[in-house]
Amino acid sequence: MSASWENYLQTLAEGTIETYPLINPHTREKITDIPECTEEQMENAITKSEQAFQQMKALTSEERSTIIETACTLIAEQKETFAKTIVLESGKPIKFARGEVDRTIQTLKFAAIEAKKLEGESIRLDAAPNGAGRDAYTIFQPIGVVGAITPFNFPLNLVSHKVGPALAVGNTIIVKPAEKTPLSSILLAQVFEEAGLPKDAFLVITGDGPKLGKVLIEHPAVAKITFTGSPQVGKLIKSQAGLKKVTLELGSNSALYIDNSVKDKLKDIAQKAVVGAFSYNGQVCISTQRIYVHEDIKEEFLHYFKEATESLVYGDPNEASTDMSGMIDEKSQQRVLKWMEEAVTEGATLVTGGVAEGYGVKPSILTDVLPQSKVSCQEVFGPVVIVNSVASAEGALTEMNNSEYGLNAGVFTYVLPQAFEFAHNLEVGQVLINDLPTLRFDHMPYGGLKSSGYGYEGIKYAIREMVHMKFISMNYRF
Ligand code: SIN
Repeated sequence: MSASWENYLQTLAEGTIETYPLINPHTREKITDIPECTEEQMENAITKSEQAFQQMKALTSEERSTIIETACTLIAEQKETFAKTIVLESGKPIKFARGEVDRTIQTLKFAAIEAKKLEGESIRLDAAPNGAGRDAYTIFQPIGVVGAITPFNFPLNLVSHKVGPALAVGNTIIVKPAEKTPLSSILLAQVFEEAGLPKDAFLVITGDGPKLGKVLIEHPAVAKITFTGSPQVGKLIKSQAGLKKVTLELGSNSALYIDNSVKDKLKDIAQKAVVGAFSYNGQVCISTQRIYVHEDIKEEFLHYFKEATESLVYGDPNEASTDMSGMIDEKSQQRVLKWMEEAVTEGATLVTGGVAEGYGVKPSILTDVLPQSKVSCQEVFGPVVIVNSVASAEGALTEMNNSEYGLNAGVFTYVLPQAFEFAHNLEVGQVLINDLPTLRFDHMPYGGLKSSGYGYEGIKYAIREMVHMKFISMNYRF
């Protein structure tokens, strides 16, 4: 059976009277109507999910692992359907959409492996004065219904980062996908159903984020909320969630330092930085947004970087040669353009870009940007990068840490002690030495400091936040 979203939408539509138009970001044409699900539908989904949990927790880890492996096989068999759906609803160019499908398979394969590996530990109770005569150990148990609220920018892989770990340990999951990109998550749910997942163990409910999210977050039967999105919404979720477990993957204005010791690699770094800054129009939480370059090499770096940036191709996201396409919506496009104008008024110099291109924004570089300009201190989530010079590595460290965010950071240097200084002192969750900040392997721990988040993803680490640890002691001298 090939996955398709039409029937799923039809079933959701039976419980609702309202719909909203789903718009193709690149053409701004309507794709279809999406059911605006009601609060009652979300409550019913939670009840079904609670019932499905009884079946999920009865499965062995081998059975859960096999279901996830089967889902991977089905996704691989329908790779083009998944990739084209990502293109259709998110406007992501097909080469990146195919990459996202490959990553999704990886993510879920890691989940299938971790399903078999969740092991507790044995604890020496005789280390305590009265503890002799007992064996003790810990086990991990699923927590029940997981509520996932997911973003538009990776409509398949960031959903899988929540679905994979939840199902791997025997939980059930309800996904409230971004209003702008619900279709990919529906295809994923269908593939899991075909792979043999118990009925209702993975449900997708479409519609208004704040309204449906509130039901999910506050419902007593939902044990955990996992969210990827903006810090504002993240803070609201944390305040609504009470004592529930919560994981929040929020934004960043990721920074990169290029030291003068790597002068021989500048062209190569500039080409990589173009990918890190402009892939999917910079609508990525770890997009390379702030580049600090040692003053000795700034002009040379800027030359290569500008040249590579100006070679990017804007066009139909279905074409393999397309690099840039329409932004997710007009509001985002206009905000990004306005922030650049403001930065220039505040003293920055535009190196290239700064204008609209179709429904997108031309890939843009600004230099000599003030730290308080929005394109520096806030998350742009658009194809804009700042390149400022610094006199020393210490100066770069100070600039990089001058941020309310702390997700990923990158450093290019041949100087080993300098690399370790950055690794220890950067106020971020992940430090990438001799790589861009725009790098994520799907099994690595991934979580932010400051306003960038709370808790971790990366399958093994996400799983720890989706289980109860239970301590068990056996007094064998009883
Ligand atoms: C994100 O944008 O939140 C995730 C980036 C990634 O997974 O590559």
